[in-house]
Amino acid sequence: MILVSRPDLGNREAEAVARVVRSQWVGMGPVTAEFELRLQPLLATNHVVATANGTAALHLALAALDRDDRTEVILPSLTFAATVQAVLMAGYRPVFAEVDPATLTLSPVDVAHCLTSHTRALLPVHFAGLICDLHPLGKLADLHGLALIEDAAHAFGSRRPPAPPARVTHAACFSFSANKNITCGEGGAVATNDALLAERMRRARYLGIEADTWCRQDRERPWSYQVLGPGYRYHLSDIHAAIGLQQLDRLESFRQRRCTLARRYDAACAPLEFLQPVTRCLPDDIPHLYVLRVTRNLRDPLYLWLRQRGIFCGVHYLPNHLQPAFRPFHRPLPVTEQLAGQLLSLPLHTALADADQDQVILALRDFANSPAISRGAAADPVELQPVETPAP
Ligand SMILES: Cc1ncc(COP(=O)(O)O)c(C=O)c1O
Repeated sequence: MILVSRPDLGNREAEAVARVVRSQWVGMGPVTAEFELRLQPLLATNHVVATANGTAALHLALAALDRDDRTEVILPSLTFAATVQAVLMAGYRPVFAEVDPATLTLSPVDVAHCLTSHTRALLPVHFAGLICDLHPLGKLADLHGLALIEDAAHAFGSRRPPAPPARVTHAACFSFSANKNITCGEGGAVATNDALLAERMRRARYLGIEADTWCRQDRERPWSYQVLGPGYRYHLSDIHAAIGLQQLDRLESFRQRRCTLARRYDAACAPLEFLQPVTRCLPDDIPHLYVLRVTRNLRDPLYLWLRQRGIFCGVHYLPNHLQPAFRPFHRPLPVTEQLAGQLLSLPLHTALADADQDQVILALRDFANSPAISRGAAADPVELQPVETPAP
């Protein structure tokens, strides 16, 4: 069986966890603090707040924004449900926008269509590890006094863009769940240069308490604390941080392996006209997913073909504006809806052996020569065009 994704954990991670277990301090403590310190230069940021997962990171960042009467956050529909749920948990209304079909990242043109006097923040997603172009979004945010919160769950280790204009409240939220570029088992982090935002998030991640249990150990009265505001139980434990620290040591080898695998897929897919790779392997990026657009209505037949051969692919994602829970926020998104029938993610993870990838590639070539191909539509009904600026 070839899995679409899996973590790459070994003896070093197991040993690191064992050390934390033997120390008897397994909650948030010195190892989590060390993990945050290691992330800071890597993310070129002044503050890192480690969290229990990426959803918590997004929730904390949104909840830490200054509140006013603006209630809307613009985000792509093409993302994991976590992005949307975080918006709702923070008390905002999600406004779904289109993505650019070439990159699957938020379309700045459609964001401009969605802007109203109620817009509070923009929430782009760095799809499959590709950092989206923050320049036009930063400009819009600056112009309209919006916050810019990045969902960087897929993009840990990818090239960081320079910070957007100074007036913009800005934070990037990462996930370290099992299938991410590095994993803590479960984990996340928010990176920001905004000291006030960082302080609010640090407090809110631990029940609104002004200092966590580990930090209070040196105080004269360590049992005494103040609850200063609303809070959640969103901290990262030392057990999880210990895994993350080991994974950080392997980041460069992970980057190289993922890039090598992506380039091999690129070469294999190039002659197959019904496959249009979306994932781009730019220098310094880490391809988190290898996403194809499968044209001619062949996505589902290809998915089944591969599955019958023990190859498990993914679909990232079912559009959120079509999900039952998010129906109240529906708006027609034709590009996203058509993409949803085409997207397929091939197996990509650092433990994928060349021989396994060769099997995937062989199965793709066999499919190209199979009768299934002639049953596919000659062409897709409509060629996908990016959203255009409306006529003035
Ligand atoms: C785009 C995106 N955002 C947010 C998340 C949430 O991260 P976590 O699963 O760590 O809560 C994920 C997780 O897969 C994701 O893919």
